[in-house]
Amino acid sequence: MAAPGASKPRVFSGIQPSGGLHLGNYLGAIRNWVRDQDKYDNIFCIVDLHAMTLPYDPSVLQERILDLAATYLAAGISEQHAAIFVQSHIPAHSELAWVLECYTPMGWLERMVAFKEKAGRQSHERVGSGLLVYPVLQAADILLYDTNLVPVGEDQRQHIELTRDIGQRINQRFGPIFTMPDALIQKAGARIMGLDNPETKMSKSLAIKAPGHAIFMLDSPDTIRKKFARAQTDAEPAVRFPAGAGVANLLEIYRTICGKEWAEVEQEFAGKPYSVLKGRVADAVIEALAPIQERYRAIRSDDPALMRRLRSAADRLSPTANATLARVQRAVGLR
Ligand code: TRP
Repeated sequence: MAAPGASKPRVFSGIQPSGGLHLGNYLGAIRNWVRDQDKYDNIFCIVDLHAMTLPYDPSVLQERILDLAATYLAAGISEQHAAIFVQSHIPAHSELAWVLECYTPMGWLERMVAFKEKAGRQSHERVGSGLLVYPVLQAADILLYDTNLVPVGEDQRQHIELTRDIGQRINQRFGPIFTMPDALIQKAGARIMGLDNPETKMSKSLAIKAPGHAIFMLDSPDTIRKKFARAQTDAEPAVRFPAGAGVANLLEIYRTICGKEWAEVEQEFAGKPYSVLKGRVADAVIEALAPIQERYRAIRSDDPALMRRLRSAADRLSPTANATLARVQRAVGLR
């Protein structure tokens, strides 16, 4: 974490502990984040309370939390620039969320696209209320730490706008309590598509239904080779330009990992059979993930130590969160 008084912008990022991270997460976001981490005062929050808003398996939640924390650390997120902690370890998140819920009109929440999509198909008798108030808890996460920037995908823009609306409502009524955050919509990273269907973005939920869809950061070399061997290309016998979506996706993965220009990659593969392209992409991915997997295994060899690191990050952040909560409690008459 940055020293107190440091003027780096504070970044808050919430990550759901809902299964492994894939190559799209790594090349599209985490890798760039590792590269730029010293420009910010970063907080990475593993949002276990959010993970409860849809049906989940309580018996694997702790494992998923450890898995996610270890993957971030192994990918190069440094505790010198970032605090990685678990949302439920700081009770101020739940406490602030309740207060904000009392100041958030229900209509604002019912309009959230993410809510409508997740709840839409099911009866309101079955969906937990947590799904509706989900974005208020997210607002509490962000507002507790005087956050300046929230790196999110396009799908989360509406939740950040809602966070600002809630923050402004409190500030207008009670004076300046919250810092207004801005969304940092990431465009810079590579956009990696599904291996089985290059028309859709690589996604965790699609990978559950089709194992060949995504490469996971912890996949073995053998699995990685097999998945690439089965990746969709097109009817051409060899690489030719302009390439179809499947071939372009393989080239994009290769190019991003090797840090090469398009022209270079085109020259390297023009006229080559797909087996050569797939083999080289697999080699590049295996080589890039090997040191991460090795560090991951070292970190996971001592789970109690990892849990102590997460707890100590929460201890370091608690005073900031509690100070914000106290400001709010004083304003709303709870102190
Ligand atoms: N809703 C976010 C997602 O699904 C996760 C999240 C929870 C979050 N709290 C946050 C993201 C705070 C940014 C800031 O991706």
